[in-house]
Amino acid sequence: MQLIHDVARWRAYCEDQRANGERVGLVATMGALHAGHAALFDAAKVRGDHVVATLFVNPRQFNDANDLTRYPRPRDEDRALASAHGVDCLVEPSLEEMWPDYPNATATTVSVRGIGENYEGASRPGHFDGVTSVVAKLFTITGPCRAYFGEKDFQQLAMVRQMVRDLSFDVDVVGCPIVRDDDGLALSSRNVRLGPVGRQRALVLSSALRDVGSLPANASTLRSRLRATLVDAQLDVVYADVVNPVTFEPSRDDEIGEARALIAANVDGVRLIDNGTVTLEREER
Ligand code: PAF
Repeated sequence: MQLIHDVARWRAYCEDQRANGERVGLVATMGALHAGHAALFDAAKVRGDHVVATLFVNPRQFNDANDLTRYPRPRDEDRALASAHGVDCLVEPSLEEMWPDYPNATATTVSVRGIGENYEGASRPGHFDGVTSVVAKLFTITGPCRAYFGEKDFQQLAMVRQMVRDLSFDVDVVGCPIVRDDDGLALSSRNVRLGPVGRQRALVLSSALRDVGSLPANASTLRSRLRATLVDAQLDVVYADVVNPVTFEPSRDDEIGEARALIAANVDGVRLIDNGTVTLEREER
């Protein structure tokens, strides 16, 4: 596995791969890699891409300084996991090259309106501007590619798709299913901060999603049922809703077909998110 630290070499490396007839498969990460990231590497490999992974803890997407400081950075383990899953090139760019003026406010911001304003956008001010700005930069440097994102961050995925459409990036965005532990907990780099009790309580998120996922009903019924399960479990819920998977508008009772149930909750001081597909059906009054 090739290790690259500077932007000029990263850009040239991707250009060389394309010149050799390869398709670049980009997997953007902030490190603390787990089986969810490995599934993205594997998905790119299966499609025959030349896999370029980036590892950059992007400070502009953290709205909480403590969260940034505490973000795990197991560099050696990350390199080993990437290499074991066939990553061809791991890019670890420096903060100086990614955001030369950080922490000054001077910086270009790419902002996706609408989709990004509610849910994660509302509860983490500035977070999505940081995400779309860095992803736009990663796409610009990498050049034409297929880019793999997990559905765990479903709102992020929807925003990246919108940004690609609006800014005509030559990038084919591939969404990959959420990877879960055997007990149902969606994998996240934050899960290591859960104690045994917190981890047990956190399972309510995935079980609540499974419950509404198995019950075709109208949006109000599904929304109430989802919220009731979380309230009964006395979780500190940030939001729980049923939304249109493309626009992120709350689903209406006259809608039918596929929608997305979203949850964010603080469990023992750890902020967790999860989501799942639901089926909207009209209900007779
Ligand atoms: O999903 C993530 O890990 C990050 O938001 C991303 C896409 C790597 C941008 O920093």
